[in-house]
This record gives sequence, C-alpha cells and structure tokens, in this order.
Amino acid sequence: MENKTGTIRLDDENYEFPVIAGTEGEMALDTRSLRSKSGYITFDEGYGNTGSCLSEISFIDGEQGILRHRGYPIEQLAEYSSFLETAHLIIYGELPQSTELDAFRSRVSNNASIHTGMHHHFDGFPSNAHPMAILSSMLNSLGAYYPEMSSNNREQDLAHFDETAALLISKVRTIAAMTYRMKMGLPFVYPDNKRRYAENFLHMMFSEPYSPYADSSGAGDALDLFLLLHADHEQNCSTSTVRMVASGGANLFASVAAGVCALWGPSHGGANMAVVQMLEDIHRSGDDGSRFIQDAKEGKAKLMGFGHRVYKNYDPRAKILGKTVEKVLSGIGAEDPLLKIARHLEQAALEDDYFVERKLYPNVDFYSGILLKAIGIPLEMFTVMFAIGRMPGWIANWKEIAENPKSRIHRPRQIYTGANLRKYTKLSAR
Ligand code: CMC
Repeated sequence: MENKTGTIRLDDENYEFPVIAGTEGEMALDTRSLRSKSGYITFDEGYGNTGSCLSEISFIDGEQGILRHRGYPIEQLAEYSSFLETAHLIIYGELPQSTELDAFRSRVSNNASIHTGMHHHFDGFPSNAHPMAILSSMLNSLGAYYPEMSSNNREQDLAHFDETAALLISKVRTIAAMTYRMKMGLPFVYPDNKRRYAENFLHMMFSEPYSPYADSSGAGDALDLFLLLHADHEQNCSTSTVRMVASGGANLFASVAAGVCALWGPSHGGANMAVVQMLEDIHRSGDDGSRFIQDAKEGKAKLMGFGHRVYKNYDPRAKILGKTVEKVLSGIGAEDPLLKIARHLEQAALEDDYFVERKLYPNVDFYSGILLKAIGIPLEMFTVMFAIGRMPGWIANWKEIAENPKSRIHRPRQIYTGANLRKYTKLSAR
C-alpha cells in the first residue's frame, strides 16, 4: 500500500499523488501538493469527501453502522464501561488501570466547584437566555479564572493538560446544573462528591436543602449511558470546530466554548430538542405520525432525528438508546405517548421508499430526547446534555492538534464567485 498513487489529469497534464490508507482500510488521495503542482484546488462544500486530519481517536463505518473508540465497539463500552472510564479511554488512548481510573475520578470530583466569582456571572443573564448561550460564555469565562492553563502557549497549556481536562469535564456539569437553577430562580446546589458523575449532576439539578435528590429509578445509570454514547463521534461539526480553533493555537477553554456554539444548531446537537418538539406537535395535532411522514416526503417537514452525513445504516447509538428508553420508562413506571409516536414514525420510515432510497435511519437524537425527558431533564437543557457528553471527544481532539509538532493552522481556500475588479464611486456620484 505504501507506494500506491493516484493520478489526476488536468489540462492534458497528469499529476500523481500518494494514497494514504487508514488502519481500517479507508483510502484517501493526498492532494496537499495539488495547488503548488497544478494551480488547481479541490472544491468540496460540506466536506463530504475531505479528510481534514489523521486521527487515532474514533472510527466510524457509516455503511455498516459501526462506531469504535480507540478500537473498542460502542456496544461493548455501553454494556461494560462508564462515562468517566470511556472519557479516559478517548482522551488518553487506553482503558485505565483501576488506580488510574480512581485518580481520574478523584481529579474530576475535586474540580466540581465553581469559583464564587463566577456565580455572579449568572446574574448578568436574563432568565429566558438559552442555556447553550450561557454554557459557551461560561466555559470561555472559566479560562479567565485559570490563566496559567489558558495561556495560548502550547507547551504551557499542555503541561497543565491533565488538570484542565478533568476540570472541564467536571465544571461543564456544574455550570449546566447552575444554569438550570438560575433560570428557575432556585438556589445553587453544591456538588456532592460521594455521588457518581451523572448522579451528582442530577443532585445539583434537583436536590433542595430540605430534600436531597434520591435516585430510585436508575436515572443516574441511564444518564451515564446517555453521556457515554455522546462522548465522541469523529469529525462532526462541533469537533471540527474545536480542531479549527485549536489549530490557531487557542487554549482548551476557548476551543471547547466554540465547540458548544457549533453544537447548538438543529442540524447537529440541537436535533435532540427538535425531535421532542416535533413529537409533541404531532401528538397535539392528533396525528399518529402518518401525516407527518407524508409531509416529510413532500419536503414540507423534516423528520428530525433521522438521517446522517456518515451513517447510511442504523446509527448504533440509536439502537442502544431505543432499548434504554423502554427500560427507563418501565423503571419509573411511566408511559410516554411520544415513544409510541416515535416507534410508529421509525417503522413507517423504514418501510417507505423515500427514506429507504436515501438511506435515512434514526440517528442518536431520535430517542435521546425521550430518554432525557423521562429522567426529568427540561427540553431547553437537552443540547447542554449533549455538550456535557461530548466534552471528552472535544478534549481528545484538541490534544491531538496541540501535541502534533507538525500541525498547521486550518485555513481552507475558496472559489471566489463575486464581482470582478471595479472602480470605487464616491457617495455623491452613486
Ligand atoms: N427528513 C426528511 N428528508 C431528509 C432528512 C430528514 N431528516 N435528512 C435528509 N433528508 C433528505 C434530503 O432532503 C435529501 O433529499 P434529496 O436527495 O431529495 O434532496 C437527502 O435526504 C440527502 O440529505 P442531505 O440533506 O443531503 O444530507 P446531509 O448529509 O447534508 O445532512 C443531516 C445530514 C443530519 C443534517 C440531515 O439528515 C438532517 O437534517 N437530519 C435531521 C436533523 C438531525 O437529526 N440531525 C442530527 C444529526 S446526528 C447527531 C449529530 O451529529 O449532531
């Protein structure tokens, strides 16, 4: 494979380029020298055919519906691992020994509190501010409290990396819970380090001074699984944003704050919120989903939680979440009419030519919103939950850029399609 090349013919000239193969046999033509050799650049809006980096973190085979982190299938991690252990795997490349895992957990636990100076930042937001706007602002502000960790000097920021990574994984959860409490006009609840990661979040969300949160229905375990399933997903919109920001030398706080902004949109992390809004609309209208499917086929609506740029098969995370939702709902002894509509939509779409021809299957967001709703997370917080889960992936991708001495600033080119040279006319003459 080493010497395999590919040829591009342009203007009667042949240009040869090396072929790069990934460890799972993914093939790429290395066109980095195309412009200097030929004057041409490639055009690939949306990057559907463009490998932006070499990465050792996660592997997706979209045709087969495969997702692996550092070689481990998502199904095995979902069954046997925990969010923090998977976070360690994603960031450091290996499953931790028990002493390493204990040390990582302690580091995360010991970083759960927020500087009291930051409590006042919450006062500056109106109560109707979106939690994603608050989260991105707060993560960037957090860097201001740790200038030694956010120096934008690669060597220095990397020297503090272990502490910064644990701090972000911990504090993103605290900031998220504080955001909810602020919006509800409730007093902040301090972290309780005797509780595990996900349960501690639920405690900070729902405990009251007179009534500590008790997880009797397995909500903590379900949330831990939700977070694990979101921990990384190779070069998606937000992770590529993190890498883009990191490529200019920006620190980890600034890079993940940018990741939160990129995640917010409904085509990406905002889809989990949009799915539940869609299901509620369908429910309110008295439809069982059939009318909505027809609207989606006619381009009048989009079936949120369906389709994916990479998966042309079932998203393996959706399969796991679909089963977990049933378990959680039966654990709390509740029924959700939205689940019935979702099951009907899924069945109808999987049998419909429109969706089959376009290879549109449920993605991770299709069932995750129903799960979050079942464990009491308010709709507005859904995308924040995705961000808490994705933090390890963003951190690992930042690390890959920062540790690579050859990494260059990300700076794509464009094809200019605007006006040709024109002469400036003075305002009075226009
Ligand atoms: N409902 C109806 N039609 C769809 C849908 C959908 N959800 N998704 C794609 N299509 C159609 C699309 O209209 C197009 O049809 P045609 O070929 O006739 O023009 C065809 O399928 C190909 O779609 P595309 O828009 O070219 O696909 P893309 O790779 O650019 O977009 C996507 C991928 C995820 C943005 C899109 O499928 C979508 O908007 N899905 C709904 C939003 C959603 O669930 N997003 C979460 C993604 S997974 C989690 C994450 O990574 O954040």
